[in-house]
Amino acid sequence: MKVAVIGTGYVGLVTAAILADFGNQVIGVDIDEKKIKTLQKGQTPFYEPGLSDLLIRNQKAGRLVFTTDYSQAIPSAEVIFICVGTPSNEKGEADLSYVFAAAESLAPFLTDKAVVVIKSTVPPGTHLEVKKIIDKLTKVKYYLASVPEFLREGSALEDTLHPDRVVIGTDERYAQDVLLDLHRPINGKRILTDVVSAQLIKYAANSFLASKISYANEIARLCDAYGADVMQVMEGVGEDKRIGKAFLHPGIGYGGSCFPKDVKAILAFAKKKKVELAVIAGAHKTNTTQVDYFIDKIKKHLGHLQNKKVGVLGLAFKGNTDDIRQSRALVLIRKLLKEEAEVYAYDPLAIANVRKFFPELNINYASSWQEVAKQTEVLVIATEWNEFKELDLEELKRISKVRYIFDGRNILNPTKVKLAGFHYIGLGR
Ligand SMILES: NC(=O)c1ccc[n+]([C@@H]2O[C@H](COP(=O)([O-])OP(=O)(O)OC[C@H]3O[C@@H](n4cnc5c(N)ncnc54)[C@H](O)[C@@H]3O)[C@@H](O)[C@H]2O)c1
Repeated sequence: MKVAVIGTGYVGLVTAAILADFGNQVIGVDIDEKKIKTLQKGQTPFYEPGLSDLLIRNQKAGRLVFTTDYSQAIPSAEVIFICVGTPSNEKGEADLSYVFAAAESLAPFLTDKAVVVIKSTVPPGTHLEVKKIIDKLTKVKYYLASVPEFLREGSALEDTLHPDRVVIGTDERYAQDVLLDLHRPINGKRILTDVVSAQLIKYAANSFLASKISYANEIARLCDAYGADVMQVMEGVGEDKRIGKAFLHPGIGYGGSCFPKDVKAILAFAKKKKVELAVIAGAHKTNTTQVDYFIDKIKKHLGHLQNKKVGVLGLAFKGNTDDIRQSRALVLIRKLLKEEAEVYAYDPLAIANVRKFFPELNINYASSWQEVAKQTEVLVIATEWNEFKELDLEELKRISKVRYIFDGRNILNPTKVKLAGFHYIGLGR
């Protein structure tokens, strides 16, 4: 099939590469000229395991090309995916301006029977606005659908090839058949819905997962208060199949490009219809106070933080990615800097992004956790990178004066850390 993918970010690029790998002819379109030039040279603009090889392979085979020119990409496309960003605006709503701009740019080049698929996460009803925009600019018969994306950064290829489900939301049979056919090589249960339900599935799923994280964080606070071990509590809770173990791991809160903005957006569009979402509002509130809760714990042990040398391990919003959008590690660092701590930090991949996007942050960057440890007395784990899970405590003791380890992701074994002679402070344990 001939496919156009608009927006070559995490979602668009992965979608484009995988569809090309199935043998489709795919054109990726972006307004970011620098990004398109990078892609045309066979380079990947961000880190995602396995993506680089997939891109190169399909570019070499001539199945995948990139352009900034809608007139090159759209006329031949039977299916067009809109994968542009939908960040939060100042009111917490999804900013749909990129989606609307994409609709306006593609409309004049649409050809008969094209299926326009919104893959970006958009509030229910957005397709009606998109339809209004397109209808003003074309007379051809086209179809609209919403196919929300559920991939996770860090395992995006695997998630796209083997999703739990593929949600195809469309009110038109022809579009449903085309999209079922296009997704044929992908595993996972098919959920066929109307467009609005598909759009809501995405927000309902993300806010549920965010609520699970905040729930675990609230129980961690309770465990701190009563001297229980939250990891044991969550194991006991999560083994119940009705609940499930995933996303019950306490930490300094959820970040990333999706959960924070999608939770705010669902609250915003619920409010517009005067629907109260008390559970989700609570999950949001807990998340916004979780870093403060952790900083208070640090201060309880260290007193003030002024001029204290604090080492932060991890800057990315989670392990296995260089994405720093809404990273809790950066929220933590901002608060440490406000308390006038001297911050040293290391991340295996994300330092370049922090330097680029937040040059104002007064961070002393290091090229390894050892280099951080040599300069500080306190280590704070902010991102759950694998290399921090197996921190060599003997080496840490040998090379540094670190005595306190604050585990903001509950990834270390407290007994081992204490036996090695450090103070261990996690969340709820
Ligand atoms: N990143 C994730 O893990 C993830 C997972 C599921 C769903 N989503 C959703 O998918 C959507 C895209 O997310 P992302 O993380 O891939 O975003 P991103 O910011 O990484 O990429 C968006 C891309 O769209 C391009 N763009 C913006 N306006 C454009 C236009 N008019 N024409 C062409 N290109 C344009 C940008 O230049 C950018 O390259 C969002 O709605 C997001 O909520 C993201």
